[in-house]
Amino acid sequence: MKIGIIGAGQLGRMLALAGYPLGISCTFLDSDKSSPGGLVSAIHVGAFDDIKKLNVLASDVEVLTYEFENIPVEALKSIDSGIPIYPQLEALTSAQDRLLEKQLFQSLGIPTADYVPIDNSSDLESAKKKLGWPIVLKARRLGYDGRSQHVVNSDISLQSAWDDLDHVPSIAESWINFERELSIIASRGAEGETVYYPLSENVHENGILRTTVAPYDDSILQNNAQNWISAIMEKFNYRGTLTVEFFHTNEGLIANEMAPRVHNSGHWTIEGAETSQFENHLRAVLGLPLGDTKPRGCSAMLNLIGTMPNLTAATKIPGAHLHDYCKSPRPNRKLGHITLLSNTRENLLKKLQDTMKTLNRTSIS
Ligand SMILES: Nc1ncnc2c1ncn2[C@@H]1O[C@H](COP(=O)(O)OP(=O)(O)O)[C@@H](O)[C@H]1O
Ligand SMILES: [Mg+2]
Repeated sequence: MKIGIIGAGQLGRMLALAGYPLGISCTFLDSDKSSPGGLVSAIHVGAFDDIKKLNVLASDVEVLTYEFENIPVEALKSIDSGIPIYPQLEALTSAQDRLLEKQLFQSLGIPTADYVPIDNSSDLESAKKKLGWPIVLKARRLGYDGRSQHVVNSDISLQSAWDDLDHVPSIAESWINFERELSIIASRGAEGETVYYPLSENVHENGILRTTVAPYDDSILQNNAQNWISAIMEKFNYRGTLTVEFFHTNEGLIANEMAPRVHNSGHWTIEGAETSQFENHLRAVLGLPLGDTKPRGCSAMLNLIGTMPNLTAATKIPGAHLHDYCKSPRPNRKLGHITLLSNTRENLLKKLQDTMKTLNRTSIS
């Protein structure tokens, strides 16, 4: 079976690697021949809106999917072969725009932060009145890993944040004083059958995910998150893997954003669950039965950001599962990750702290 994947970053690479044992072959489209995916599987080199290249990709595979949400939906719609694209482009359209995403959550009764759409300077005044300080100002489109967003505490900084975003359509959100961040990942197959991973607990610094620990055991929150992600999936008759990120506050879960794809907070599922999010995404888009999501004990994932550790040092750590995406180092760039497993959460957290210390990674309080 053959899948075409638009985008060949680390998520694409891990999809291709998950396909190998099942005899599923993945072909990518990306502008960079030596991107992480292109190093492990066939790749067509071209821009995401290169209609000719999209058609070449489509001509050689059974189904298309994507591993990155900032791809032009119009270009995907103009592929002429009528090939299925999963997840559905309607879901991608909502996920690409923070305003549409919030409106979607609200229409389904999913709690969100209060927000005000920002299209001109006078909207800043309304945001201040409605939300109070601090305000999180985010561009509606194209942001990721905390880019194109600012947390502000005063009129002056709100104005300069808006200037910094070049006055693109934006959204102002109230600051959520959360206890922790959690995410849920689910995969939905051809007949609407759905499997859910347990909640993951995520620590971000400067908007970039640093660590994930899973499962986060809370049956009430798990149930809420499952109901909400199901509602989103049903709305789009969704096929594939979907992630929803939440803030956990003393009033429960507040949805932050969704990603219509596999997600960094689910990397632990490669070693830490019976079937990984990557394999289940492939199974879902190909119409195969979905695999068991049961966790194998407790897992921790440490993102390797900016620099890679020395290979000897990393492989010396007992039980550390190292993933090197083979990217060139750059500050704030996700270059790889390590997954650790343990039977108890306590043991796992100790292993995580020790690993971070050994590899000189920022300590998470
Ligand atoms: N309204 C908010 N209140 C508190 N923290 C926030 C808020 N919005 C974003 N953040 C912090 O910034 C991180 C990145 O923001 P997010 O909206 O998820 O954008 P991205 O698309 O860059 O991941 C979040 O995981 C969270 O840690
Ligand atoms: Mg996010």
